[in-house]
Amino acid sequence: MASITVPSNLMMERILSIEIVRVTERAAVNAARLRGRGDEKSADQAAVDAMRRELNNLPIDGTVVIGEGELDEAPMLFIGEKVGNKAGPKVDIAVDPLEGTTLCAKNMSGAIATLAMAENGTLLHAPDIYMEKIAVGPGYPKGVVDLDAPADENVRSLAKAKGVRPEAITAMVLDRPRHADLIAAIRKAGAAVSLITDGDIAGVIHTTEPDKTGIDIYVGIGGAPEGVLAAAALRCTGGQMQCRLVLDTEERRERAAKMGIKDPRKRYQIEDMVRGDCLFAATGVTDGRMLQGVRFGRGIVETDTVVMRSVTGTVRWIRAEHRQLDKF
Ligand code: FBP
Repeated sequence: MASITVPSNLMMERILSIEIVRVTERAAVNAARLRGRGDEKSADQAAVDAMRRELNNLPIDGTVVIGEGELDEAPMLFIGEKVGNKAGPKVDIAVDPLEGTTLCAKNMSGAIATLAMAENGTLLHAPDIYMEKIAVGPGYPKGVVDLDAPADENVRSLAKAKGVRPEAITAMVLDRPRHADLIAAIRKAGAAVSLITDGDIAGVIHTTEPDKTGIDIYVGIGGAPEGVLAAAALRCTGGQMQCRLVLDTEERRERAAKMGIKDPRKRYQIEDMVRGDCLFAATGVTDGRMLQGVRFGRGIVETDTVVMRSVTGTVRWIRAEHRQLDKF
């Protein structure tokens, strides 16, 4: 039988696509031990510690571009921190070791540990500010929804493209006072609104499998770092996302400029936020629509992870049973 030769850079990328699962698994398990304790900070720290330790075992020469904050505000996984054992490719890393810190602290559904990895210099360096976002899954004509169009227009356009009435469309939105008008407009157009208290990375990803999740479109304002992570996931699965940084103060405009943002009104598409091929992984911390949370049994811990590669578009769902619990 003829053997297929895989170029060495792709081989390494294939290996890393499995290796990064360990990183999010360990972060999720560490955070899950603190589920429901009402302590956001400790749960986040536990996830950060585990994620950093595991990242440093990977054969990469990595730089954190989306992390826990600037060096002065985050001692670990800060923006610019070098991670990995240097025995591999130069890569950009985006992390959110515990996305949904409040969800974890309150043991509510939807907290995840997540990261994206991409070729060096290809991930948008997004400051920790807000971002307007709109996202739909794969299979629609380009531009089916528009960040700057009124919500009712987007609902009607999406419904037409899906071949259903607006009443059959469900939009996911973060439950925040700033979204009151948006929510009212979506409902007025006939669509349903599914509100989440936190966790808009998963919110965006839900749109990629509307038959499973019941979510057709994600819309609203959330964190910019979360936007880049969600864009990495959509780069792997297909789908459309448009975003714009909310640069409404001089201080925010300056911070963005320092991170290389030249056009403060720029409308980012997925390819502007993730300019090359990438890997994305997320492990459930608490139970969610997409992933089950960590389950602690007798002598066994179970995790549920999704890992994606943009090169092939492969999405793997990995349910793992861990028995060497001293490793966590
Ligand atoms: P944290 O995990 O940092 O708490 O973020 C949760 C989150 O809900 C994100 O998913 C979202 O992008 C952002 O917070 C929204 O920010 P805000 O809570 O200020 O509306």
